Amino acid sequence: MTDNITKQAELYAGKVKTIFETNDPDRVMVLFRDDTTAFDGEKVEALPRKGLLNNQINGFVMQKLEEAGVPTHFEGFASPNEAVMKRLDMIPVECVIRNVAAGGMSRRLGIEEGKPLPEPIMEFFLKDDPLHDPMINESHIHVFGWASDAEMETMKALTIKTNAILFPLFDAAGITLVDFKLEFGRFHGQVVLGDEFSPDGCRLWDKTTQKKLDKDRFRRDLGQVIEAYDEVAQRLGVELFEA
Ligand code: TMP
Ligand code: ASP
Repeated sequence: MTDNITKQAELYAGKVKTIFETNDPDRVMVLFRDDTTAFDGEKVEALPRKGLLNNQINGFVMQKLEEAGVPTHFEGFASPNEAVMKRLDMIPVECVIRNVAAGGMSRRLGIEEGKPLPEPIMEFFLKDDPLHDPMINESHIHVFGWASDAEMETMKALTIKTNAILFPLFDAAGITLVDFKLEFGRFHGQVVLGDEFSPDGCRLWDKTTQKKLDKDRFRRDLGQVIEAYDEVAQRLGVELFEA
């Protein structure tokens, strides 16, 4: 499927991924770099193997989602740290869903970290680093036109569906899926899951020890970041191919 796709000019370098045009106007090549950032890019470090781990965890998860009926941009791997994706017109809204209280919500509302929620909570953030990704609601999204009402309904439904697919997938690997962030884009008018699903954009806690297996190890200087990402890959059954 991706054999005849060749990498061309660089389109855009994000904080941790670089996007290249390809010979197909509808496809891009995404390079997952080793750069790791937190606090909207204020803290940056290159952690060896992070790019290949996130590329391959992302591909594994996106394939599971696609099989279960969530349309994604993932097309196939091109190398250990590169993949071919559909070229999307990105919607600047980050969709967060939470199963357990943690992070920003705990801080904002004074809810103890680790408190299980009786049902998932959804939140939206504007993707804007200089503004530090402010929290927004559906009224902001509607009035400022960041997504149409129909796109919003699809994004909400796909976020809930993704949670329903991934919570049991991680649970079977002995991991609690505490929360995660998704980004969507438009592909020929269809809303499709974009960006990445990796330990950079979710919270993963060991079910019995509560050990953090995600980017909070980097944000909070807990050490052993790559060891934790490797453990996630291994527990999910991702068959890693190395450089
Ligand atoms: P928060 O607790 O910082 O609000 O984040 C909730 C989850 O969403 C957490 O797993 C991290 C992820 N997230 C990002 O990866 N990037 C973002 O810009 C935001 C707002 C959240
Ligand atoms: N993903 C954002 C960043 O890299 C926010 C965070 O993870 O803290 O800055």
